Amino acid sequence: MTLADRDEELRELAEAEIRKNQGSVEADPYRLTYHHMPPTGLMNDPNGWIQWNGTYHLFYQWLPFHTGHGAKFWGHRTSEDLIHWTEQTPALTPSEWFDKDGAFSGSAVVADDQLHLFYTGNLDGDTGPEEEYQCAAVSVDGINFKKKGVVIERPEGYTSHFRDPKVWHHEGNWYMIVGAQTMDKQGQVLLYQSQDLENWEFIGPAAGSFRGPLKAFGYMWECPDLFPLNGRDVLIVSPQGLEPDGMDYANTYQSGFFTGTLDYDTGSFDHGAFRELDRGFEFYAPQTMEDEQGRRLLIGWMGVPDQEEEAHPTTANHWIHALTLPRELTWKDGRLMQSPAEELQAMRGPVLLHSSITIENDQKAVRGVEGRSIELNLEFEKLGDQFALEFYQYASLSYRKGVLTLSRPRLDEHSKTEFRRVRLEQPLNSLRIFADTSSLEIFVNGGEEVFTSRIFPQPEEEHILFTSLGESTFSIEKWNLSGWT
Ligand code: FRU
Repeated sequence: MTLADRDEELRELAEAEIRKNQGSVEADPYRLTYHHMPPTGLMNDPNGWIQWNGTYHLFYQWLPFHTGHGAKFWGHRTSEDLIHWTEQTPALTPSEWFDKDGAFSGSAVVADDQLHLFYTGNLDGDTGPEEEYQCAAVSVDGINFKKKGVVIERPEGYTSHFRDPKVWHHEGNWYMIVGAQTMDKQGQVLLYQSQDLENWEFIGPAAGSFRGPLKAFGYMWECPDLFPLNGRDVLIVSPQGLEPDGMDYANTYQSGFFTGTLDYDTGSFDHGAFRELDRGFEFYAPQTMEDEQGRRLLIGWMGVPDQEEEAHPTTANHWIHALTLPRELTWKDGRLMQSPAEELQAMRGPVLLHSSITIENDQKAVRGVEGRSIELNLEFEKLGDQFALEFYQYASLSYRKGVLTLSRPRLDEHSKTEFRRVRLEQPLNSLRIFADTSSLEIFVNGGEEVFTSRIFPQPEEEHILFTSLGESTFSIEKWNLSGWT
């Protein structure tokens, strides 16, 4: 069989799998209405996130054949407005010797009127990758991609955990950072430079465990992303192997960022402390891009690695996981802020407004504030000793003494409750909440913290309850959100 035949065969097998499972996937009560989900199988990291000639391109890690991980494809969707998306033919299949066990995560850039993808070709070993290569593919029409093969092989001194290239342009040169692991199992990000996107020169490690201000900081850094924001450089990474520390690092793996300055000559990134990007149960491997309006937009995987897949009820219907809403990153008063992309307001129906609600030592519903595909905006005037929102008799968000806590039943053991917490720097003053059939994204105080989580309440349950110990007064705006279909 030739390699072109293998590519064709994989595409046909994926198509057949979609057709086979379409009925059960579409009938799933937890299918989301305005988020990216796989047509069948497993979706993980967002990849190649870019705007080109007005069109947004979003690629995603996709395993069509079952709801576990494996030899990933790059699924591909396009949009003009960040709301209506078209599924394109998969951009990459694991068809070649250098990516046969997965076209793993990576990024996209435009050069010479072509769309260039950089991704990791993965070859499996017994207990992890046997080898990982940085590979390229190119397209003139933005739909059909031609693989160009391996562009970077792993440097000396590093293990085969070597993946997730992010490429950008800076002062006349191309740069790439790649997640890597040293021989003594420390996570790092490596910086490369190129003039032509083909020949890459290794500059050195930009940051990592036991570098700069860091002590032990994980055994592998996945999905790095580096970009300027308001005069500073931000490095996003998903380190593996951080131990839980108080309220921090509560998920198996985390995603967060360092701010600092990249010295492009030495390759060294001088940075401050790590901050998590999201405090919810499911958030990982985010990727950003600068769009044509100059906005820095982030999308993340609304999932985490190493969860028991069967604990997600959707696996019974042959699909799992989703992506977050696109968020705009800004810098305000020394903080990175995240807010849902403005375009999403076009999904809103008419507003329901309660301009002043007071609850005192009580738990109650608020007229009209219910539903499973909604946006809520709460602004607080006064807060009692404790304030809580209960969603659909399932999850709750409560605020007490400066700490915000999200709780839900454990996915693998429903009789137990699990918690994620953060101490806010400012008292709670606003909550902007996007609820979809089986997800919550909660933007706190204009985006200084975010909680992203999947939720699996009874499908017909629509109620939201408000509780206050002492007296709380707040306003609510509520919108029903129209889905994509
Ligand atoms: C992160 C990750 C990446 C890898 C991809 C494989 O979730 O493990 O490091 O490229 O997923 O699907």
